[in-house]
Amino acid sequence: MRAHDDVLAGAGGVQESHFPALSGPESGFPELPADGETLLEVRDLRVRFSRRGRHVHAVNGLSYRLEAGRMLAIIGESGSGKSVSSRALMGLLPSTATVTGSARFAGTELVGMTEAQMRRRRGADIAMVFQDPTRSLNPTMRIGTQVVEAVRAHADLDRRAARRRAVELLSLVRMPVPEQRFGEYPHQLSGGMRQRVMIAIALAGEPRLLIADEATTALDVTTQAQIMELLVELQHRLGMAVILISHDLGLAASYAQDVLVMYAGRGVEHAAAETLFAHVRMPYTRALLGAIPLLEREPHTLLPVVPGQPPDLSALPAGCPFAPRCASADEQCAVDPPLTEHEPGHRWACWHPVPDAPAPDAASGDRS
Ligand SMILES: Nc1ncnc2c1ncn2[C@@H]1O[C@H](COP(=O)(O)OP(=O)(O)O)[C@@H](O)[C@H]1O
Ligand SMILES: [Mg+2]
Repeated sequence: MRAHDDVLAGAGGVQESHFPALSGPESGFPELPADGETLLEVRDLRVRFSRRGRHVHAVNGLSYRLEAGRMLAIIGESGSGKSVSSRALMGLLPSTATVTGSARFAGTELVGMTEAQMRRRRGADIAMVFQDPTRSLNPTMRIGTQVVEAVRAHADLDRRAARRRAVELLSLVRMPVPEQRFGEYPHQLSGGMRQRVMIAIALAGEPRLLIADEATTALDVTTQAQIMELLVELQHRLGMAVILISHDLGLAASYAQDVLVMYAGRGVEHAAAETLFAHVRMPYTRALLGAIPLLEREPHTLLPVVPGQPPDLSALPAGCPFAPRCASADEQCAVDPPLTEHEPGHRWACWHPVPDAPAPDAASGDRS
């Protein structure tokens, strides 16, 4: 039985692309920085939650730069500020949050924008996909209708054109036979398919940056790999930058080009993935990696538990916030180490960086 025949009729027989952006420079995308240009520059970003005189300092001077078209993985323990710092970029924080510092997206300052300004840009500049699509999708609405609504929220299209474009979006996220799926409800889809729908909705505004916040965490390993491969494909096809927020080091190592490690609401190590994983400098990153060499791990490896307690964000001590848990800490660590570029393209915030491990055997000792 095929419900929603009007939708199916409207969706059928699409030939021409409604994504000029996919096929050439005559794109509907706003002026897009070329690869290598800065898309997002976050500087000294701070987020404080205040309630009844108590302040939680969730983000404490986060700074990073993301180039157009690249995939940056943000990793760190639970509570390190990954989600809050990303939600701050989209104005998706509750009114108890105070955001200061700077986050410039393609040259435009996001911090301090009004809700109305943010709403206009949300989805069109930066879109976000979360871990749990069941919470973001309306269970009582057919998925086709939800994608159509997302399309119409961003483009002034009539129903027919919006439907065609919605089907196109579902094809773009590799939804098999999208015309048939159009009339189904979220509960009729697998977790992976629901996440594809969420990605299609996120793409409706042709964002230049997609933030995937633990978007594959709830999925089984095979589905997770498929969604990650889809994100990489979309990144390349659409020239879209991706921020991959994850607990999964294997995922960061396998898919991301850059890695930013967060601790206590700030960046503590940042480099290209190959550099960072081959030459870990920050003792916290070392502890996250644990004893197992990264390349020998299966993807879907969760962060090992780092001994000790994460810091209390309502009473951060002076000095390096990791010092109480760090075997290398000494009196120098009472002064907070800044995140500094110590080696080309490799920044870390530590007075006692981890030296390169000696090559495990002579045969692999080819590092320069
Ligand atoms: N709405 C809120 N009110 C108060 N504190 C919050 C709120 N949202 C997040 N936090 C706190 O901010 C810190 C960072 O949270 P989050 O960014 O979600 O961490 P992560 O995504 O790295 O696990 C945590 O200590 C969390 O408890
Ligand atoms: Mg989070």
